[in-house]
Amino acid sequence: MSTSMPATLRVLTGYRPTGRLHLGHWFGNLQNMLKLQDEYDAFYFVADWHALTSEWQNPASIRRYTEDMVLDWLAAGLDPARCTIYRQSDVPEVIELELYFNMVLPMSWLERTPSYKEQQQQIGDKDLSNVGFFLYPSMMAADIVVLQAGAVPVGEDQAPHLELTREIVRRFNATYGKNCLVEPQALIAKLGARVPGTDGRKMSKSYGNGIFINDTPDEIRRKAMSFMTDPARKLKTDPGNPAICPLHQVHKLIADTDRIESWEQCCQSAECGCVAHKREFAEDLVAYLSEFQSRRAQLDKQPGYAWEVLEAGANRVRPIAKETITTCRQLVGIG
Ligand code: TRP
Repeated sequence: MSTSMPATLRVLTGYRPTGRLHLGHWFGNLQNMLKLQDEYDAFYFVADWHALTSEWQNPASIRRYTEDMVLDWLAAGLDPARCTIYRQSDVPEVIELELYFNMVLPMSWLERTPSYKEQQQQIGDKDLSNVGFFLYPSMMAADIVVLQAGAVPVGEDQAPHLELTREIVRRFNATYGKNCLVEPQALIAKLGARVPGTDGRKMSKSYGNGIFINDTPDEIRRKAMSFMTDPARKLKTDPGNPAICPLHQVHKLIADTDRIESWEQCCQSAECGCVAHKREFAEDLVAYLSEFQSRRAQLDKQPGYAWEVLEAGANRVRPIAKETITTCRQLVGIG
């Protein structure tokens, strides 16, 4: 990401409210969102319509996860005075823009999106053969373009979607007039740490290997004790290899360098065992999350607060979305 981008550059990202946030979200996304709110004109939205594309059979949880996600964001340090937090479904212009995109978008472009087939295979318990899910990348393009966002922070998984957004914008612009819509840039997140879960695979809700940021201290301790360590180290007397220890990779994210170095040394020399390491990791993690958790507990005492924040955000977003739609209506010939 070039440093020459202006501080007023509009950056946008959204997350689907389909579950509780875990350490993978905390380190992979949230820390980056905190940084970006100070560097750009940042817009963060709860992608509840996107959630519906996969949760349509069981939508009861979407509102609860929406509220939870906003409160987690706020407790983590997102500040509505420094960034705009809103809910996708409060901006119906998104759907209108998606409709116009669907005119210029060949079906084959959606069919070849790598995430489409992958997700259909991976998410086995959900019916993703619906048109809503098929059109997901088009809706994502509309989310971005309706706000005329200049950049989108993307990890590996979302990169093809952003590329598709750019292709849709180019085709729309070529059809209706040069450069009428902004082609968003990818902002490759440096902080996007890949966080292993308790079984050593990438932390993910669907693998059941997550430590959630709202887990109680006892839950954290219990999960820490079952966390995978160096698989080649069978006995405490075997020297361990911290570089391949999943627990240690997470420990590195939460503890200071001195502490980490002394653990590496102790493990490599077979002086310390994994059980002791797990215990210490658990206490470090409980301490690391305590400030966040107490702020979150405070926010829980203010019923309706999340919805107020979302409403204020929507009021900032709607005028921008209206302006885009007015232009697009004229361009497509119905304005
Ligand atoms: N596709 C993203 C996800 O699955 C969510 C999303 C929807 C998004 N619209 C977006 C992300 C626009 C960035 C920009 O998590």
